Amino acid sequence: MFVANWKMNGSSITVKEWLNIISSSDNLNKCIFCPPLLYLKEANEFISEKKLSLSLGAQDIDPENNISLTGGISPSMLKDVGCKYSIIGHSERRNFYKEDSTLLIDKVSICLKEGIKVIFCIGESLEERNSGQTKEILSQQLRALDGFSSENLMVAYEPVWAIGSGRIPLLEDISETSDYLIDELISLGHKQEEITILYGGSVDASNAKEIYQLKSVSGLLIGGASLDGEQFLKIIG
Ligand code: 13P
Repeated sequence: MFVANWKMNGSSITVKEWLNIISSSDNLNKCIFCPPLLYLKEANEFISEKKLSLSLGAQDIDPENNISLTGGISPSMLKDVGCKYSIIGHSERRNFYKEDSTLLIDKVSICLKEGIKVIFCIGESLEERNSGQTKEILSQQLRALDGFSSENLMVAYEPVWAIGSGRIPLLEDISETSDYLIDELISLGHKQEEITILYGGSVDASNAKEIYQLKSVSGLLIGGASLDGEQFLKIIG
């Protein structure tokens, strides 16, 4: 899988230009496009009109349907605009909005109940890594997935220090950490054959292939480099 997370970037025009560029790929069925919420509807219209096989995802979701929540976006609204996935627990939201496990569990829960697949992000900060706490932090974050199944859920390992920094862990580290995450998910009752681990953090056309080829990595979550249609095309092959 290749997930394009546009974060707070793009416009009506660039969304259509981008879709036009990547529409030449044969691998669109492995792609999930997560533009800002405002552009999901027109992206969906474009995708339907051109019969493209990529999926749409939201960058976040609220943990309720139809309640009195100003600014809220519910699973039913996302489904209404053709969204099949939602990113949950991105480190930017954990840090900016102090989203904690209790809230994230509610978000995962409503998504799975309502038929929206989850891309659940976890990752350690540089400080945590430097103090040897990586595994402990990842395990803590993964505990939010206790009681769920991996059937409609992917885990994206995104070291916070690798996001937007141009720095990525050594391939051996990504591989070892992904293996560790798989073991941890199994210990939480997830079925091995259903587990999907993505890697994210400074993925671009120059490093995507070698990361994607790692045995325990089933996909990539791409921020900055996904904004450029030509570069994203190179990444997805
Ligand atoms: P970059 O690819 O820009 O480092 O961002 C990664 C990310 O946060 C994707 O969710």
